[in-house]
Amino acid sequence: MTEQGREQHGIPVIAIDGPSGSGKGTLSRLLAAKLGWHFLDSGALYRLVALAARHHAVSLEDEVSLQTLAAHLDVEFEGVDGGVESRIVLEGEDVTHALRTEQCGRDASQVAALPAVRQALLQRQQAFCVPPGLVADGRDMGTVVFPEAGLKVFLTASREERARRRYNQLNEKGMDANLQRILSDLATRDARDSERSVSPLKPAKDAVVLDTTGVTIDDAVTRILALWREVASKTR
Ligand code: C5P
Repeated sequence: MTEQGREQHGIPVIAIDGPSGSGKGTLSRLLAAKLGWHFLDSGALYRLVALAARHHAVSLEDEVSLQTLAAHLDVEFEGVDGGVESRIVLEGEDVTHALRTEQCGRDASQVAALPAVRQALLQRQQAFCVPPGLVADGRDMGTVVFPEAGLKVFLTASREERARRRYNQLNEKGMDANLQRILSDLATRDARDSERSVSPLKPAKDAVVLDTTGVTIDDAVTRILALWREVASKTR
């Protein structure tokens, strides 16, 4: 491999960043399954810290205690299937469902703004980078966690479309959903994620920006696979 394709210890990484509801999660999982690579859902780690804080009655503003929680998260990603985890267990409890609530997303966005929490989760995220490769989904995968990733994609979509997707996802899972509430939550989270001082949500300089408004997930996956093949062919 040439320098361009040489990533974390020579292991290929595709970094997929973007705002909530841009389709990152579904798309990254599909991509990892198609490539037979591992998958990092970095948002789940921030959600886990928020959930652990609730369990231990730690305030979401207590940066020191949150840092300790983040550094010592007792979590297992179970049922790995084609690089995709299907069950997340926190301190012995299955929290797969609890992690996906809107409340947990709001809490996660709050703890994610704290520099000490981000620092505590950095190595844990980088540890997901093992052969044969990694698809990493988040907000700062291409800018901070895997700056050497061979392919960086920044997904966007209109806020309305992102809210609709989130609404449909929650409905499919039989969870409570209110479109207006989701829209206003997205606006708050977008602002907090983009304006925070550490690792703000923004495309890496060398990221390909992909607007998925009106684009199916399958078409977006096909496009990213084509981009990856281009990168891989140049580095062979
Ligand atoms: O992607 P997900 O909605 O699960 O992320 C929850 C929250 O975690 C986001 O709103 C964001 O504030 C934070 N996050 C982050 N950096 C990441 C992944 C998620 O700040 N790499």
